[in-house]
Amino acid sequence: MFLAVDSLTKEYISGESKFLALDNVSFSVSKGEIAVILGPSGSGKSTLMNIIGGLERATSGSVQIDGKEIISLNSKELALYRRNYVGFVFQFYNLIPNLTVRENIEVCAHLGTDPLDIDFLIEKVGLNNHMHKYPSQLSGGQQQRVAIARALIKNPKLLLCDEPTGALDSKTSREVLELFEEIFS
Ligand SMILES: Nc1ncnc2c1ncn2[C@@H]1O[C@H](COP(=O)(O)OP(=O)(O)OP(=O)(O)O)[C@@H](O)[C@H]1O
Ligand SMILES: [Mg+2]
Repeated sequence: MFLAVDSLTKEYISGESKFLALDNVSFSVSKGEIAVILGPSGSGKSTLMNIIGGLERATSGSVQIDGKEIISLNSKELALYRRNYVGFVFQFYNLIPNLTVRENIEVCAHLGTDPLDIDFLIEKVGLNNHMHKYPSQLSGGQQQRVAIARALIKNPKLLLCDEPTGALDSKTSREVLELFEEIFS
C-alpha cells in the first residue's frame, strides 16, 4: 500500500472542552489510485488531509507513506516530508498575487529533486496564453489550474486536494476534474 492510515484519532482541546474530530480512521490507497473522501461539513475531511499532508499533528494512530511512518516525525523531518513528498491544492488557490502565473509555478519547481518541465505543465493545464498574467487577471478555474500546476511541478508522490472545486461553478468544476483525469491517465 502506498498510503496506509491506521486507527487515526484527532482530538481538539480548547480550555475545558474536547472535540473528537477523527475517531479511529483506517483506510489505505494504492500507488496510482485516486481516492475521494466524502462527508458532511465538520466531519473531519480537512483535518484528515492536513494530518496526511504533515500540516497538522494527530493525537494517536499511524500514517505510513511508502512504508515510512510520518506521525512520529519531528518538525524538521515533517517539513522535509512535505517538501519531498506532498503537493497540496486548496479550495481558495492561495496564489502569490504579485507573481505571474509562470512565476507562481516556477517558485515551487526547485523544491523537489526531480521537477517536471514547466512549459510542458503550463501547456498541460491549458495556461499557455495566460502565463504572464497575474492571479487577479484570471478566472477562478484558471487560478485553480495554476494552483494544480504549482502542486504538480515538483513531481510529488502524493497529491492532496481539499475541495479543489469548492469555489468553482459546476461547469468549471467539471473542467478541473477532467484535468485531473487527464494528468493521471
Ligand atoms: N483548530 C481547531 N480547534 C478546534 N476544533 C477544530 C479545529 N479545526 C477543526 N475543528 C473541528 O473539527 C471538526 C472537523 O473539521 P474539518 O475542518 O476537518 O471538517 P471538514 O469535514 O473539512 O468540513 P468542511 O466540509 O466544512 O470543510 C469540526 O467540527 C471543526 O469544528
Ligand atoms: Mg474542509
